[in-house]
Amino acid sequence: MNSFPEHLRRHEIPEPVALVKGNGDLAKISVKTDWSTAEIYLLGAHVTGFQKDGEPPLLFMSEASQFAVGKPIRGGVPIVFPWFGSREGRALHGFARVTEWEWEGSSVAPDSSMTLRFRLPDSAARADGSPPATVIFAVTVSDKLAMELTVANPSGTDSLTFENCLHTYFTIGDIAEAEITGLKGTTFIDRMGNVTQGVESADAIRINSETDRLYLDTTQRVAIHDLRHRRKIAVEKSGSASTVVWNPWAEKAKNMPDLGDDEFKHMLCVESGNVTQNKITLAPGKSTSLKVVLSSHQMEAARELSR
Ligand code: BG6
Repeated sequence: MNSFPEHLRRHEIPEPVALVKGNGDLAKISVKTDWSTAEIYLLGAHVTGFQKDGEPPLLFMSEASQFAVGKPIRGGVPIVFPWFGSREGRALHGFARVTEWEWEGSSVAPDSSMTLRFRLPDSAARADGSPPATVIFAVTVSDKLAMELTVANPSGTDSLTFENCLHTYFTIGDIAEAEITGLKGTTFIDRMGNVTQGVESADAIRINSETDRLYLDTTQRVAIHDLRHRRKIAVEKSGSASTVVWNPWAEKAKNMPDLGDDEFKHMLCVESGNVTQNKITLAPGKSTSLKVVLSSHQMEAARELSR
């Protein structure tokens, strides 16, 4: 029997939730659950890590990422809001990811999962000259990572139109040995070169060059098969009509100061949200939630890439 006094032994157990200083001295919350660990920066309410015990990290983080207020973090789950892509003279992918959010608290459910809630300060929309929106982000950490972005329109008279996206970077063993399923038959906008439209014909999508595709009108669950890690990742979502698939590949990566030259081989963005023609318009007083649940399983046997 261990005779070590109970009250001291407790000190050896990591705190389940701790507010610590992260990179660039930014405030970071670290979370430990019975199954996993996670970390979230207040800057952008940005989930920068989720790792199940015994598995490689689920989320990719660039070793060259910046960590500074007003700059986006490269990797993890940037929150894209209230617009996707560029707007002349304004922050790429919106101001939510470069703003410090307020941590509203955390709670433990009876099943031991841990939920943390964040609120985008109202001052962020005011400073941008954007219409007011009440934006809450809830992150639930267990053997899965569940994220819910709720946007409410506080106006009594005006509708609120916006785009949103949970721009998730996944860790991939080797991009040459990875594929994405669940998008066959979906219409996409291909943003490479001359923007074109197409319909996905592949059962399993392979990435072997720069890829930037917006799949529209799709609410389907998507799976990522990472053969090198023998891991299958499921991306389940609700309140989302768009899935974005992005990898910058070698040449673009060389021009990205916050991404190492070879890191594109070990990352893949599969993003869930509502972009371009899937943008959302909320009537006065209404709200909507974008929910994404990420889970992973080791593949039992080696699997071959589709041909
Ligand atoms: C993707 C876009 O969602 O994000 C790409 O489809 C973009 O066009 C990429 O390059 C990364 O954007 P950023 O602003 O984080 O460099």
